[in-house]
Formats: sequence, C-alpha cells, structure tokens
Amino acid sequence: MRVTMIGTGYVGLVSGACFADFGHIVTCVDKDASKIERLQAGEIPIFEPGLDKLVETNVREGRLFFAVDPKEAIASADAVFIAVGTPSRRGDGHADLSYVYAAAEEIADLMDGFTVIVNKSTVPVGTGDEVEAIIKKRRPDAEFAVVSNPEFLREGAAISDFKRPDRVVVGTEDERARNVMRELYRPLNLNESPLLFVGRRTSELIKYAANAFLAMKITFINEMADLSEAVGADVQAVARGIGLDNRIGTKFLHAGPGYGGSCFPKDTLALVKTAADYGTPTRLIEATVAVNASRKKAMAEKIKKALDGDVSGKTIGILGLTFKPNTDDMRDAPSLDIIPALQAAGAKIQAYDPEGRHEAEKMLKNVDYKANPYEAVSGADVMVILTEWDQFRALDLDRVKSVMKAPVIVDLRNVYKASEVRTKGFEYSSIGRP
Ligand code: UDX
Repeated sequence: MRVTMIGTGYVGLVSGACFADFGHIVTCVDKDASKIERLQAGEIPIFEPGLDKLVETNVREGRLFFAVDPKEAIASADAVFIAVGTPSRRGDGHADLSYVYAAAEEIADLMDGFTVIVNKSTVPVGTGDEVEAIIKKRRPDAEFAVVSNPEFLREGAAISDFKRPDRVVVGTEDERARNVMRELYRPLNLNESPLLFVGRRTSELIKYAANAFLAMKITFINEMADLSEAVGADVQAVARGIGLDNRIGTKFLHAGPGYGGSCFPKDTLALVKTAADYGTPTRLIEATVAVNASRKKAMAEKIKKALDGDVSGKTIGILGLTFKPNTDDMRDAPSLDIIPALQAAGAKIQAYDPEGRHEAEKMLKNVDYKANPYEAVSGADVMVILTEWDQFRALDLDRVKSVMKAPVIVDLRNVYKASEVRTKGFEYSSIGRP
C-alpha cells in the first residue's frame, strides 16, 4: 500500500516509520522545510527510543520518504493520514482544528482515484463529518472515504505501542475503506491486537473516553495518596490491593505530581468543552481537570513544607523536568507549574534532565541547568525528584549527601524506599506513604 502521512510530529513520524516497517511505501510530508531537510539527512527531530534506527533502516531500504511538496505523495496514495497538531485553542480550551482542515483542503486538491483519508490526530466528535464536507465541497466528483483511526501511543514506548497495540480502532461505514485499513494493519498479529470497526463518531469518542478514563484513574490514586498521608496508609499498597482486582487493573495507578504531557491535559479539557456544548456535562472529567491543576500547585507547597515552610534564599536541586521519562517533551509538565511557584517564593533552582534540557530552556527561565544529577543537587537545601528517569533510581546517595548543603529529599515519584534513604541520614518525604 502507498501511505502518505501529513505532519511529522511524534504521532506522524512514529506511525509513518512503523507503517514503512510493515512493508508499505510511506511518504511523510511536512510544511516545515527545515524539519524535512533534517529528516532527509537522517536526523530525528524528537527523542523517542528506537525511532532513529527504524527511520534509518526504512529509508535505506527504500520504503520511507520525506517531502515538503505533498503533490505526488497525495496523488499516488491509497491512504492519506492526517497527523497534524490539535492544540488547545487559546481562550476557550476547545481543540484548534485549523491544521486539520487545512490538510483536508490540500488533500482534496491533490488526490487522484479512490483515496482513504484517515484522521489520526485527536479530534472532537464530528470532525470526520466536517473533513468529509470540506472535501466534497472542493471536489464534488472525488471518490474518497474519511476514516477515524485514533492513536494510543505512549511517548517513550510509541514504537512497541504501534506494533503491538491492545487494539486498533477504525471508525468508518465504508466497506472499501475498511478493506484498505485491514490491508494496512495486516502485519499485526490480529489475535493479540484486534481491529475494532466502529462508526466514525464512535471512534472519535473512544479516543477521548480512553484518555479521560486514564486521567481519571491517575487523579483518583493521587487523591487516595493524599488521604493515605492523612490517615497513615501506604498508597502503593493501596494501588496494588485494588489493582489486582481484574476489574480495576494495576496500570495507571502510580501516584505522583499530577499528569502532564501532550494528550491528557488537552484532551480532558476538550472533552469537557464538547460535552458542555451538547448539554451533557461530564462532571467526573471536570473534577479530574480541576483536581489535577490544583495538585501541581500543591506540589510546590509540599516542597516548601520539607523546608519548614520557607524556601526564600534556598537552593532547590530538581531531578527531571519532562512530563515523564524517556521523552524530551515538556508540554504541560508538572515542572512548569512547580518551578515558577518555587521561584516566586524566592528559591534558586538548579536542575538536570537527561533529554529535556533543550525544550526546558525555552519554557523555564532563571534555572541553572546542570550536566548531571550530582551537580544539580550540589549545595542544595533539598533534592526533588520530579520525573522518574531510570538513572535517578540508583543514585549514589552517599555522594548526594556529601555534595548537598542539607540532606533533604522530596520524592514526587516514589522512586526510593523511605527506610533505605532515612538510614543514610536523609529527611525524606514522598507521595502517599508513611
Ligand atoms: C498518553 C496515553 O497513554 C496514550 O494512549 C495517548 O495516545 C497519548 O497520551 P503519554 O502522554 O505519552 O500517552 O503518556 P502516559 O504514559 O500516558 O503518561 C501521561 C501522564 O500521566 C504523565 O505525566 C505521567 O507521569 C502520568 N502518570 C501516568 C501518572 O502520574 N501515574 C500513572 O500511573 C501513569
């Protein structure tokens, strides 16, 4: 099959490279000429484990191409994927669909012969209808079908999520489009990764419902963490105790500083807006959004508390800035709320992140960026673990103690065992544990 991917962000690039690896001929197009040039030169603009090798192999073997001009790629495609950004619109929280609609117009002008147009971007329910209308209006004679095929890729594990998904959701009523989608995903082991064919609006809602449910699950355990602290229980044991019940499941029950990233914050907000527009408010998700936002602020207070309520003039050593490990993505990372709050209270910030520094420098000002964890905590009054990068799991705590001004650790990801750290002479606080 010939596939064209519009947009070379996280989703477009990973999906394009994976489809090529499945054996399809894929062209990834992007308006950003410098990005395409870098990709053509073998440079990957994002950090995603395994992606550099996957791109390199498929380019070398003649299945993966990059282009600025989409003309040829769209004309020859069996399927054109729209994988452009849908950021929160400034002001009202609705998803901004201008990039999606611009892509639809471009496809309408350039497609040739029966073409399946696949929406991979996360879009509000009804966007597929809108894309279809745009194309019909510009090309009344064209033969095409618009399909919804949401992604469920976790950053940091995106390639294995693409190749071994729990399920693939395909929203379309069109039989020809269904066959094209079946062919595209044929290399999957369909026993393990079923293709779920549903209506287009249903598919669009599945994506939001999945993300909202996971965000709610995290927020639930975060509230249980606060309660655990208050009553003297251990939230990790609570999570295990409930998670072993198959109806609940153990995943996404790690208490922490609140969820961040490119999907959960924006998608929960967009779902709340859509539901309100239709007059059927989703109050659970509204509460999730509010609780998560206030949680990030509360984390700054927790750090202050570890320094007896006053961080003014104190040096805080922060380990991890990205919203989660194995990514350089800083979008809606808890660090973006926590660090400015500490700075406003007079603290000096030293920080280290294995991959996120470049992005962080654009968003967090007056931070002294360091080259490794030990430099980041050198002379610090407190060490704060904000993102659970593996390399922070086995720090040389004696060395940490010897370079810090005072031996205080605030572990917002529950990476360490309290007893171990306290034996080494640290004051230690974490999330929801005695
Ligand atoms: C998410 C969804 O998992 C994916 O299906 C969707 O397509 C895109 O959004 P991603 O944003 O890459 O993926 O990260 P994920 O691993 O889901 O983590 C999201 C946030 O929740 C992170 O800030 C993470 O630290 C936090 N989290 C996750 C917790 O605090 N506790 C958990 O138990 C799990």
